[in-house]
Amino acid sequence: MSKQKRGSWGSRSQFILAAIGSAVGLGNAWRFPGLAAKHGGGAFLLVYLLVMLVIGIPFLMMEIAIGRKMHRGVPGALRAIKRGSEPVGWFAVSNAFVISVYYAVVFAWVILMAFASFKFADITGDTAAASGVWADLIKTTGTTSGYGTISIPVIGCLLIAWVLIYTCIRNGTGTVGKVVKYTVFLPIICLLILAGKGLFMSGAFEGLKKFFIPDFSTLSDPSLWIDAIGQVFYSLSIMMAIMVAYGSFLNEKANIAKDSMIIAFSDFAISVLSGIVLFTTMSGTGQLGNMTESGIGTAFIVYPQSIVLLTNSGITNAIFAFIFYFCLCTLAIDSAFSIIEGVSTAISDKFDLNHKKTTLSLCLVAGILSLWFTTGAGLAWLDIVDHWCNAFSLILVGILEAIVIGWLFNPLKVLKEVNRNTDKFKMPAWWFVISIKILAPLTLLGFFIWNLVSLFTGGGIYGAQDGYSFASNLFGGWLILALCIASGFIVKLIEMKLRNYKPDNDKWED
Ligand code: PFF
Repeated sequence: MSKQKRGSWGSRSQFILAAIGSAVGLGNAWRFPGLAAKHGGGAFLLVYLLVMLVIGIPFLMMEIAIGRKMHRGVPGALRAIKRGSEPVGWFAVSNAFVISVYYAVVFAWVILMAFASFKFADITGDTAAASGVWADLIKTTGTTSGYGTISIPVIGCLLIAWVLIYTCIRNGTGTVGKVVKYTVFLPIICLLILAGKGLFMSGAFEGLKKFFIPDFSTLSDPSLWIDAIGQVFYSLSIMMAIMVAYGSFLNEKANIAKDSMIIAFSDFAISVLSGIVLFTTMSGTGQLGNMTESGIGTAFIVYPQSIVLLTNSGITNAIFAFIFYFCLCTLAIDSAFSIIEGVSTAISDKFDLNHKKTTLSLCLVAGILSLWFTTGAGLAWLDIVDHWCNAFSLILVGILEAIVIGWLFNPLKVLKEVNRNTDKFKMPAWWFVISIKILAPLTLLGFFIWNLVSLFTGGGIYGAQDGYSFASNLFGGWLILALCIASGFIVKLIEMKLRNYKPDNDKWED
C-alpha cells in the first residue's frame, strides 16, 4: 500500500497541545493525588519525577519518533521496523479501543455531574446526601448483576460524550488542532479557580504539608514504586497507540526531543496543580483522611462531601461543584478523543480507508458497546475491565514495544530520529538506550509480575480480583486480554481474505 495522503498538524503548538491534552486527563485529576495521599505525599512526587525522567520520557520520545519516521499508526510503524512485530501494534490498538469504550462512560458520568451540580445547592452540610448524588443517578447495584436497571440520564450523557468525541476528531488533525486550544487551557483555568478557593480555607496549609513534605519512610515500600511506574506510563498516554498516531502527523522539522520534554513536564505540572486542589480542599473540609486511592471514589463520593462543606451558601457550593465537574469534562474530552484517533489512524492506515468514515464507524461501535457500562452492573464491570487493561494489557504492550525497539531493532536509529532537529537540548544516547533496552522492559516486567501475584493472592481463586466472581474476571479480564492479544492475527486473517489487498512493504530507512 502506498503512503496515503494523511493529515498533518497545522503548527508545532497544535501538536504539543494535542499531546498535552491527551496526557492530561482524569488520571491527573484524581489518580495522581490519590496515589500521593496513599504514599506519603512528597515522597510519591519525587519518585514519580524520577520514573518520569528515567523511563517515561524516553518511551514517549520513542513512540512519537517511530510515528513521525514512518507516518503510520503503531501497527504500520512497527511492521516497517520489524516485519513480524505488527501484532504488537494491534495488541496496543485493540486494548486502546477497550479503554475508549469505558472511558467514554466515565466521561458521561462527569458530564452528568456537571448537569446535576444544582443538586448541591439544597444539601449544604449534608455529607451523606452528597455522597449519594452520583450513585443514585447512575443506579448502580455495585455488583456484576443488575442489567435490568438502566439510567436514562447516563445514556443521554453518553450520547453527548460520543457526539462530542466524534465532532472533535471528525476531520483528524484539522479539527483536533482547533479544539485543543480550548480543551487544554480551560481545565487549567478551572483548576486555578479551585486551587484559589482551596488555598484560602483554614486547614489548607496542613493539606499542602501533607502533599509536599516527603515522608521518606514510604520509599522502602515497593508498592509506592509500582504505583509510580504505572501512573507515569498511564499519565503520559503511552502504550495506548495515541502518541505514535499523533507523531505520525508531524512534519520533518519537528523537534521531538524538546517537544517531549514540554509535554511530560506540562503533564506533571497539571498533576501537581490537581494535587494542590484536592489536598487543600479536602484538608479544609476535614476530609483529607477519606481520600481514596481509587479516583472514582474520590471524584464521585468523597469530593461531593467536601463540596457541601465548602461554604454555608448552597448556591456557592453548587457553583464550585459545577466548576469541578466542568473541569473534569474538559480534562476527559481530549484524552477520550485521542484514543479513538489512535485506533482510527491504525485501521485507516492499514486498509487504506477513509479516515473520517473509519472514525465514525468506530464511534458507533464503541458507543454501542459502552452501553454495557450504563446498566446497574456497569460500575463493577468497569472496575474489572479497567483493572485488567491497565494492570496487564497496557504493561504487556509496553514490554513488547521495548523489546522490539530495544532488542530486535536498534534504539540508536530511533534516537537519531528523536534528535534530528535538536538545537540546544539533545537526548543523550546513554539515557535513551539504557532506558529503552533495559530499564523500561525490566520495570514494566516487575510491575506486571507484581500485579499478577496480587491477582492470585488477592482473596479470589485463579485471578478473581477484588471480590468479583471468577466468572466475571474470566469474561471481563482473561477473555478480553486474549482477544486483544489475538487481534493481530485476526487482522492478518482479514488481510488474507481481501482480494485486492496490497501489503505495506515500507521499511525504516536511515
Ligand atoms: N493520560 C490519560 C490520563 O491521565 O487520564 C490517560 C488516558 C486514558 C488517555 C484514557 C486516553 C484515554 F482514553
